[in-house]
Amino acid sequence: MKKLWGGRFTKSAEEWVDEFGASISFDQELVKEDLEGSIAHVTMLSANGIIGEEDAAKIKQGLKALQEKADKDELSYSVKLEDIHLNLESALTDIVGPVGGKLHTARSRNDQVATDMHLYLKKQVKLIIELIEEMQTALVEQAEANVETVMPGYTHLQRAQPISFGHHLMAYFWMLQRDKERFTESVKRINISPLGAGALAGTTFPIDRYQTAELLGFDGIYENSLDAVSDRDFILEFLSSSSMLMMHLSRLSEEFILWSSQEFQFIELDDSFATGSSIMPQKKNPDMAELIRGKTGRVYGNMMGLLTVLKGLPLAYNKDMQEDKEGMFDTVKTVIGSLKIFAGMIKTMKVKDEQMEKATKNDFSNATELADYLSGKGVPFREAHEIVGKLVLACVQKGCYLGDLPIEEYKEVNTLFENEIYKVLDPYTAVERRNSAGGTGFAQVKLAINKAKSLLKSE
Ligand code: ARG
Repeated sequence: MKKLWGGRFTKSAEEWVDEFGASISFDQELVKEDLEGSIAHVTMLSANGIIGEEDAAKIKQGLKALQEKADKDELSYSVKLEDIHLNLESALTDIVGPVGGKLHTARSRNDQVATDMHLYLKKQVKLIIELIEEMQTALVEQAEANVETVMPGYTHLQRAQPISFGHHLMAYFWMLQRDKERFTESVKRINISPLGAGALAGTTFPIDRYQTAELLGFDGIYENSLDAVSDRDFILEFLSSSSMLMMHLSRLSEEFILWSSQEFQFIELDDSFATGSSIMPQKKNPDMAELIRGKTGRVYGNMMGLLTVLKGLPLAYNKDMQEDKEGMFDTVKTVIGSLKIFAGMIKTMKVKDEQMEKATKNDFSNATELADYLSGKGVPFREAHEIVGKLVLACVQKGCYLGDLPIEEYKEVNTLFENEIYKVLDPYTAVERRNSAGGTGFAQVKLAINKAKSLLKSE
């Protein structure tokens, strides 16, 4: 097959060399964007008298025919034609004849591929933002149903203080809110047009870059043609926002895995998001959560990979940049899949509120309450801490909990202790009373949920 750039060559590469250099196996993902970009380009060429109206109309018709084929998945590609751009140009010429060759006037694959990637990422980031919102909605709904579900809160994975399960879930709402802000903010850097930068230096033709930018829905154009064709920051930024999002999802995965274990028994994942074992009949494994935790690694890898590809590249385009695509496609797929799974897992999980509550009764996570109680009566907090520490030690030695010690024993240690301490020690009361802004007190959690709901509505 004759190469579209074959003029200066006297012999062709062997098949396996072509194969090594080709990107068509993966950049066919850009077919829609490539056609969209070409239609805008040809429209601009004819509007500015660079090619004739009739030729332009023919080319456009051909491109539209290709769009229809693409929609029906009827296009076939050849490795010999290297990438999506050359494959489509050749398919166009097959339909419209040699006039198809005019499409590439005042354009290079370098500004073409960059345009495709900008268009692609803009679309995917919008979808990702929607899916983040779906997961946030699921979190808010579960949180609302569990405002008064009391569970042990942890630091160092040791029981620390009782908290509301709704409050715990809402922590992830706010992480996702920041993720969403990062993605939303990045759109302004994605949504600029490199088209018209040519290979690297612009073009001698009287093109109108603003026109193609507008036709493609871009907010503006790259100011510098060298930058336009060699910038991959917008992809790196996407990979970085995705890494941070996946880190959040991975942490929640870890919690789901712990919570659904026999040791915790705080939640049960729905059968539709769990799998069994081929040998152990009793098993119900949180595979999806584990997989999301695992897939986080590949997203970080994609980011490190691209950073490394770019770090030594001189301006402008270098073929190394073809390596930007697989990691980006893979990340898009991973992030979309993970968000969808999570929304479903959160919506369908069973919260074992009795188990959670039981856990708060069989520990010392109410010790701070007692220290606060004494300091509320004027004992310096440091001293109160010491007194309660001694009481905890006494309980550990006896094999009981703070609520089991009789009031006489409390009074022996400090006469300020009254019968009301048993109420104070109750985990439910402990949570209820943590009513400082942003705290786990039920009233605060309800406030946060309302705030979250109005944020979701306004977006
Ligand atoms: N397939 C190439 C890529 O993805 C398209 C740009 C090729 N440009 C070139 N001058 N070889 O990067």
